[in-house]
Amino acid sequence: MKERVFSGIQPTGEMHIGNYFGAVVNYVRLQEQHDCIYSIVDYHAITVEHDPKFLPAKVLSMAADLLACGIDPKRAILFVQSHVPEHTELAWIFNCLTSFGDLGRMTQFKDKSEQQEFVSAGLFDYPVLQAADILLYRASKVPVGEDQLQHLELARRIARRFNGRFGEFFPEVEPILSEAPRLMSPADPGQKMSKSLGDKHYIGVMEPEASIREKIKTAVTDVGPRGEQMSPGVANLFLILKLSADSKLYAELEQAYQAGTLRYVRLKEAVAESLLGMLRPLQARRRELEKDLGSVRLVLEDGASRAREIAQQNMKEIRRLMGVGPESLKA
Ligand code: TYM
Repeated sequence: MKERVFSGIQPTGEMHIGNYFGAVVNYVRLQEQHDCIYSIVDYHAITVEHDPKFLPAKVLSMAADLLACGIDPKRAILFVQSHVPEHTELAWIFNCLTSFGDLGRMTQFKDKSEQQEFVSAGLFDYPVLQAADILLYRASKVPVGEDQLQHLELARRIARRFNGRFGEFFPEVEPILSEAPRLMSPADPGQKMSKSLGDKHYIGVMEPEASIREKIKTAVTDVGPRGEQMSPGVANLFLILKLSADSKLYAELEQAYQAGTLRYVRLKEAVAESLLGMLRPLQARRRELEKDLGSVRLVLEDGASRAREIAQQNMKEIRRLMGVGPESLKA
C-alpha cells in the first residue's frame, strides 16, 4: 500500500515563497509516488477574526496558486477543509484525548494570541483540528515547514493515546521537511517569512516582478561589520539562490563570498534573476487559471467528494471504536 501524505495550507489569499519552498515544493514532489491529499484549511483561518465577504475568494485564490505551482488533481486530492465536515467531528473526539497542558505549551498559540485582542477557544484548539485533518485520512507523511513540528508532535501524542485506549487505528505521523524549513523575512531576517508581519516581510509567489526586485534589493544583509559566520540575511539570500538558481552560479557566488570579494549588489541581482526565472512559468499558469476559475471550483468539488469518501469510511470505524454514533446502538 502506498503511504498516504496529507498537508494543509491556510487561505491567506496569497502564497509566499516561504510556503512554497518550505512545503509546497514537497507537495508537488510527493504526488509522483504517494497517495496525496492537500487541503485549504478555512476552519483554521477563522480562528482569528475574518471577513466572510472575502474568505471564499481567498480560498479560490489559494487553490489556483496551488494548481499553478504544480498540484495535479489527477494525482492528488485538493479540497477545502470545511467541505468535509468529518474534520470537525474528529477534532471533537481528539479534544477529549488532548491535555489542556499540552495545548498550553504550543508556541504558535503563544505568539498568535499575543497579536489578538480577542483570543478565541478555536485558536487555542487549533492544533487539535490539525491532528484531526491528518489522522482522518490515516496519513503518515506530512510535508510542512519547521513552524509546524510542534503541532505534528502533538498529533503523534493524540494518535498514540487513541491507539492505546481504543485500539490500533492511526499511524505514526512523520514530518517531511524541505531544504528550506524556515525561510526568513527579507526585511528582518531574525524572523521567519510570514504575511502577518506585514507586506515587506514576505515575497509572494505571484507578486509582480518590480515589487519582488524591490524587496530583494532592500533585503537586510549585514548589520555592522562582517563576522566569522554568514549573517542571517545573507544566509537567507544564499538559500533562495540555492533553491532557484543553477548550482554553478550558486557555487561561484559562494566562493566569492568565502574569498571576501562578493558585493551584495551582485548577490541580490543574482537572487532576483534566478527567483524570477523560476516564478515566471508559475505566474503564467496562474494568469491562465484566473481566466477559468470555474475549472478551479470543479477541482475543489471533485476533491471534496473524493476526500469525503475516505473520511466517511474512517469516521465510521473511529465512532465504532469510541462507542458513539448510531451504529453503536444496533444490536
Ligand atoms: P500555514 O498556512 O501557515 O503555512 C503553510 C505551510 O507553509 C509552511 N511555512 C513555511 N515554511 C518555511 N519557511 C517559512 N517562512 C514558512 N511559513 C510557512 C508551513 O510550515 C506550512 O507547512 N497549521 C498549518 C496548516 C495546517 C496543516 C494541517 C498542515 C492545518 N492542518 C495538517 C499540515 C497538516 C498552517 O497554518 O500552515
